[in-house]
Amino acid sequence: MANIPGKNAIEIIRRDKRVMLTTSRDDIPFVADHGSGDYAYDVDGNRFIDFSSFISVYNMGVNANKEIREAAKKQIDRLIHPAFTDYYSELPVAFAERLLDQMPSGFGRVFYSNSGTEANEAALKFARLFTKRQYALSFYGAFHGRTMGSLSLTASKSVQREHFGPFPNVIHAPYAYCYRCPFGKEYPGCGMECVEYIKKTVLAKEASPKEFSSIFIEPVQGEGGYIVPPKEFVRGIREISEDNGILLVSDEVQSGYMRTGKFLATDNFGVKSDIYTMAKSIAGGLPMGVTLTRSSLGDIPPGSHANTFGGNLVAIAAANASLAYLSRNMRSLTKGTMDKGKRMKKELDALYERNEIIGDVRGIGMMVGVEFVRDRKTKEPARKERDWIIAESFRKGLLLLPAGESTIRLIPPLTISTKSLDAGLEIFGNVVKEANASLKSGRKSG
Ligand SMILES: Cc1ncc(COP(=O)(O)O)c(C=O)c1O
Repeated sequence: MANIPGKNAIEIIRRDKRVMLTTSRDDIPFVADHGSGDYAYDVDGNRFIDFSSFISVYNMGVNANKEIREAAKKQIDRLIHPAFTDYYSELPVAFAERLLDQMPSGFGRVFYSNSGTEANEAALKFARLFTKRQYALSFYGAFHGRTMGSLSLTASKSVQREHFGPFPNVIHAPYAYCYRCPFGKEYPGCGMECVEYIKKTVLAKEASPKEFSSIFIEPVQGEGGYIVPPKEFVRGIREISEDNGILLVSDEVQSGYMRTGKFLATDNFGVKSDIYTMAKSIAGGLPMGVTLTRSSLGDIPPGSHANTFGGNLVAIAAANASLAYLSRNMRSLTKGTMDKGKRMKKELDALYERNEIIGDVRGIGMMVGVEFVRDRKTKEPARKERDWIIAESFRKGLLLLPAGESTIRLIPPLTISTKSLDAGLEIFGNVVKEANASLKSGRKSG
């Protein structure tokens, strides 16, 4: 494709750099103009196949779908903001009822906020309130958000924490990142040392289990590198939480809402948590977070936690339309996600066979990660090469995002057509081939 980034994009990026304090961009020069279905368009009229879902938000297609957009538009003309923390309104209640229908039995309470970090912030506070304990446990590689409570749980990149401490009491433990086992073991013969470490080291030496209110877990680690743990890991963590009266919080902000082919990603591991958080794709692109708790945990005292915009009617109208669409199409969406996920895995596994620069391919449903290495034996992360693959794919019309140190996440909208999926995979495959050849020739000449 010609002129990527084009004249208009370059000019907007120049203005952006002068005024914005946005800090997390990896400098993919995509300047969004509009989008629909499988495609996003930039301000120079270039079309891109979307394999990013705009950071896992557009599960139902770029710019959501017509039903979701119409519901939001209609609600704007009726009432935007109901002051839900002080007054009552039916739509947030109706959506909560609909959402609870998708949850495991025993779930009966919903709290609204505006983002993933706020959903986790609420979960952290509720867990302290319910248990009257102050410690939390989370994992290395975890990303739970960037407000102070959630950031205390996050341990993905040190730059995200640098200068922001001190943090509330959170202890981090190694996640089951089997491709790079923190204990130098190999699954399945490892005896789940990562679970044993929590029992024998964290809870025995760092803080008493009686002091832990919560364990936060991403059932599939997202920002940390699209890491899928073995079932035994998630089950082992559940056992620790149950044995010690610690509440298990599933952060499904990125992995939930059908991304893995199930409404809740935790269900892939046969585990039920005590608290779930969701955001990202739940309102089709409008800002919204939800925290769901078990009825048996009880209520929170009035005034103890609230926010002005939680229950915003435009966001809820979009979420309600999205969930109605999802419920109506549950069977086909589940099958479509699993089938397309398998198609992706098959193609990527074949790419792995032909290209040594790929160290690992992993995922569940349509939450797929490809980790790049400079050497399969040493597993030296191929970070520069990974960034080049994203940049080159972009120039060829494919939108991708990184995750972890040297992984690319492939997360198209769940509704993507197989034609666009194959076209995107073809671009990705060709670019990976080029990166592989260049790494090999560099090695020879070096
Ligand atoms: C698993 C997870 N939790 C929480 C968050 C934070 O969400 P937000 O950026 O909406 O605050 C993210 C964002 O990437 C996430 O992936």
